[in-house]
Amino acid sequence: MLVRGGVRIPGDKSISHRALILSALADGQSRIRGILNSADIQSTAGVLRGLGVSVVAQDDGSILVLGSGPHALSAPIADLDAGNSGTTTRLISGVLAALPFTSRVVGDASLSARPMRRVAKPLGAMGASFSFDGDDGLPMSITGAALQGLTWFSESASAQVKSAILLAGFTAGVPVEVHEPVPTRDHTERMMRLRGVDVRSEGTVATLIPGAPIAALDVDVPGDPSSAVFFAALAAMATGGDVTLAGVCANPSRTGALRVLERMGVRIGWEDMKDVGGEPTATLVVAPRVLRATTIDGSEVPSLIDELPVLACVAARADGETRVTGAAELRVKESDRIALVVRNLRAVGAEAEELEDGFVVRGSDRPLAGRVETGGDHRIAMAFGVLGAATGGRITIDDPNCVAVSYPNFWTDLAYVAD
Ligand code: S3P
Repeated sequence: MLVRGGVRIPGDKSISHRALILSALADGQSRIRGILNSADIQSTAGVLRGLGVSVVAQDDGSILVLGSGPHALSAPIADLDAGNSGTTTRLISGVLAALPFTSRVVGDASLSARPMRRVAKPLGAMGASFSFDGDDGLPMSITGAALQGLTWFSESASAQVKSAILLAGFTAGVPVEVHEPVPTRDHTERMMRLRGVDVRSEGTVATLIPGAPIAALDVDVPGDPSSAVFFAALAAMATGGDVTLAGVCANPSRTGALRVLERMGVRIGWEDMKDVGGEPTATLVVAPRVLRATTIDGSEVPSLIDELPVLACVAARADGETRVTGAAELRVKESDRIALVVRNLRAVGAEAEELEDGFVVRGSDRPLAGRVETGGDHRIAMAFGVLGAATGGRITIDDPNCVAVSYPNFWTDLAYVAD
């Protein structure tokens, strides 16, 4: 299979969620251009509307948010529905923890099974009350309070937990400091700084000093590296050609998978580097080379956590054995991604094994064919969609529509660049 042409990568999902939430906390109107139009982002917009914020989609694809400061948010009259979105749930929890009313957050079956005590613990230590219908997960009720400041040592490297604490500190006007085992994506910190909030980052520590409001601002959302990597992976497995991916967020906390592809031998040109809305961006030109296996450990995992399914698919075509460890978090994503990646690689004829905290994949160039069970997980669908396109189109996906969570136009874009 040859690759050709370019793809306009949709807006970054993490940045789109944060742009909506920070705009809702500002006093004034913000226009968000290039925002991702997907089910997860609709979930955040819906939750904010449920709290009384005006969030209005424009004909040009941008979104206008009219905020009146955090304390203008009002008690919801119905459950807040986060759909399939962990980021929506965990980030909004930080805001709700500091507001004087009770909200109940619900989600779909996959989201309801995901751990939420990881935000309830620090936000509870600040003074908010949480109650769960079950042991953990959604439905979850949050009663906000006048919070106190917090210094928190996170057990897991989670940008969502860090962001929830920063948002709680901002909304309550109290200082917070978050220590992480390994640095995670820093979009919340960058965006808060861009809007005038005093947030400092040093290595694995993020600190918010309260006092300044969040400014209303027009912003542009760069392309999502987690979406771009599917096409980089396709190019990596191609027999020739190249693919151009313009305006992709090149924040080093997000580009781990691209660095891994380079280590595996793939040629990536990083062109036209520039700043967009406080984030570095680049145009990537990706071309195939002979692929070799690699090793990924916990120090690298947060920078490529969402890309591990597609990296596993690339590893199935590389020379040698690829080993991923320190990635136990994959078990509590939209699906148990360790189990599903390994089961599906085997189902299509590749060699793979589960580890407690990762997996091993042995590459080959044998023909691959079979049916993939996504468990409704968008990234499993896209990873195996790319593997199928690169290996003769004999891999079928049980639920192709689940890509709507992060990339509704994925199949059309894939067909366009795969020749
Ligand atoms: C995200 C953080 C990561 C990532 C998720 C988006 C974010 O989750 O997997 O897709 O936007 O902060 P964790 O914080 O649970 O690691």
